[in-house]
Amino acid sequence: MADDTRTNHPGWGDASLAIHAGEPVDPHTRASSPNLVMSATFAPTEVPGFSARDGHGYEGYVYARVGSPTVAQLETKLAALERAEAALCYASGVAAGHALIMGRLSAGDHIILPESSYVGIAELTRDTLPRFGVQASFADTTNPAAVAAAIRPETKMLWIESPSNPTMQVSDIRLLADLAHARGVRDVAVDSTFATPLATRPLELGADFVVHSLTKYIGGHGDAMGGAVLGRKADLAALGLETTVHFGGILSPFNAWLILRGAGTLPLRMEAHQARALAVAQHLEAHPAVKRVFYPGLPSHPQHALARAQMKNFSGMLTFQTHESGPAVAARMVERLQMVHFAVSLGHHRSLICWIGTNDINTSSFRHDGPAMTRFRDWMGDGVFRMSVGIEDAEDICADLDLCL
Ligand SMILES: Cc1ncc(COP(=O)(O)O)c(C=O)c1O
Repeated sequence: MADDTRTNHPGWGDASLAIHAGEPVDPHTRASSPNLVMSATFAPTEVPGFSARDGHGYEGYVYARVGSPTVAQLETKLAALERAEAALCYASGVAAGHALIMGRLSAGDHIILPESSYVGIAELTRDTLPRFGVQASFADTTNPAAVAAAIRPETKMLWIESPSNPTMQVSDIRLLADLAHARGVRDVAVDSTFATPLATRPLELGADFVVHSLTKYIGGHGDAMGGAVLGRKADLAALGLETTVHFGGILSPFNAWLILRGAGTLPLRMEAHQARALAVAQHLEAHPAVKRVFYPGLPSHPQHALARAQMKNFSGMLTFQTHESGPAVAARMVERLQMVHFAVSLGHHRSLICWIGTNDINTSSFRHDGPAMTRFRDWMGDGVFRMSVGIEDAEDICADLDLCL
């Protein structure tokens, strides 16, 4: 875990921090760019104990599962961008979410999740946690009263994802964090992958933890998986000992090095993503084949006012529904798209689009029925095209989509 503040100047802006935080000139070689340190083990300058617990407090590196230099440089940069005391990196976004949930919750605890959130986390909490005696329930996090009603005496964590995957719902982080803490919920965690620290800084809004899939916007180029948890130094020190040392799902230094390089241009890329996404959203909204578009930056988004208040950048994610059946349009996309890739994932410099059927995702992941299913369908219709608008020319992205609509 990195908490080095030497290159984390509190007065610097996002563009400076994205480039310089965690990346001092190497004192030995005077290298300007970060070194890639792949070493699995390190030769310490004193005789450490064999257990990672003994190494706690030792300044240098001992073994790469406990900590390693290139990963620590990325952790410093992420903490600076998120204005967090500390950051911990993991092998993927799901590994980060898993580490936080399993590291903080114990048998007998309860966690509340949004009715729409990344399916990997929804499935982990719904299917796996009960085997360990942790109960999970879903609440509509766009409705604070619904969250309040879902809180139990044993609720230890409220999980928020904003904007949410795949509905593009925005949740009021400050309001929910205050509400949850006032009712005794210890941890408020926010998956801020869609927003990025350039749009929203959940810790400043009262959250205790932020989670990112680094595979998405922060890495930004679709060539390295990674994840991170950010929060208070003391919380992350305790989490790190268990979740990196004992669970072992650490980030490879090579991926950390790629993500460090990608993160340097995050502020520029987010501006470009937002500009392209707004142009594509407006194009789709005016398109006769399109039934509905959800983009937080459009006035037609049901929570546009909240998005304006909570997001400094509307990011590059949008969904849309077509009049024609989604699977038929999706089949044409696979065949005809020339530039946009018909593929899952998001936040890469190239545009990606995929089709998500409402019944399919509900059967595999959420299993809503009754009013929860009605609410889910209000945002999803029979299914949505989830598009991660890249930073190509907006006219070319629109022309590519027009080939299929
Ligand atoms: C919002 C969100 N959180 C977490 C994840 C998981 O990240 P990863 O694929 O890096 O494990 C994803 C992946 O799509 C996501 O969209």
